[in-house]
Amino acid sequence: MEITVGITGASGAIYAHRTLVHLAASDTVERINLILSDSARTVAMVELGFDFRSCDEKRINEWIGLPADSKIIRLHRLDNMAATPSSGSHLQAGMIVVPCSMGTLGAIASGAGTNLIHRAADVTLKEGRKLVLVPRETPYNAIHIENMLKLSRAGARILPASPWFLSPAADDRRTCRSSMFSDSRSVRDSAFERDTMERGYKQYEGLEACTARPVDRQKWRAVAR
Ligand SMILES: Cc1cc2nc3c(=O)[nH]c(=O)nc-3n(C[C@H](O)[C@H](O)[C@H](O)COP(=O)(O)O)c2cc1C
Repeated sequence: MEITVGITGASGAIYAHRTLVHLAASDTVERINLILSDSARTVAMVELGFDFRSCDEKRINEWIGLPADSKIIRLHRLDNMAATPSSGSHLQAGMIVVPCSMGTLGAIASGAGTNLIHRAADVTLKEGRKLVLVPRETPYNAIHIENMLKLSRAGARILPASPWFLSPAADDRRTCRSSMFSDSRSVRDSAFERDTMERGYKQYEGLEACTARPVDRQKWRAVAR
């Protein structure tokens, strides 16, 4: 399976990192088309101290723990509108934008297609493929909310970067959340098509795997109801 990942300049670069790690570790993912906005590079530097400038696939591979010569990641220039994710006839499973800035969210909602992230997201929607957007902003203004509603109606999955607090370890929360984004693994098992109860349950199972704590399923079922 081939999937596109866009990283934009919202806070939460760690989510992008974990999403890439999860996708790269998945048996079903053969190719990740990676696109970085200019601001994503700034935020990664501020938040993670990771320098994306003059960054190539080899360096990304190192960053996410892949062998340096791995061919899973294909890095595309933001201004390369001839890159494969820009074309609907190029088959792929879907796209994740993580984290998704309000600027990119608005651009996708407008259909402007002015850079490769916007265009690839537009193509993903027009082809009826899974588009998962992970917005990070607080508080939302009415424009943000309207854009999210518009995108949701157009078929995008809005999955805000809102860590939950069931796990005491912040690291677990990030891991679980990003495994959910890639669970939109979209793509593969239609996890998002399930009803809310099942989704909640799935999240809990993810949490179990992360924390290795005993799970009280009776209690969880009661909460989920
Ligand atoms: C350190 C830092 C943190 C930022 N955090 C956010 C954020 O959480 N959400 C957001 O929408 N924009 C945030 N921004 C602003 C965006 O980077 C800016 O709007 C940018 O133009 C988005 O462009 P892009 O969508 O092409 O990446 C942040 C910028 C910086 C430098």
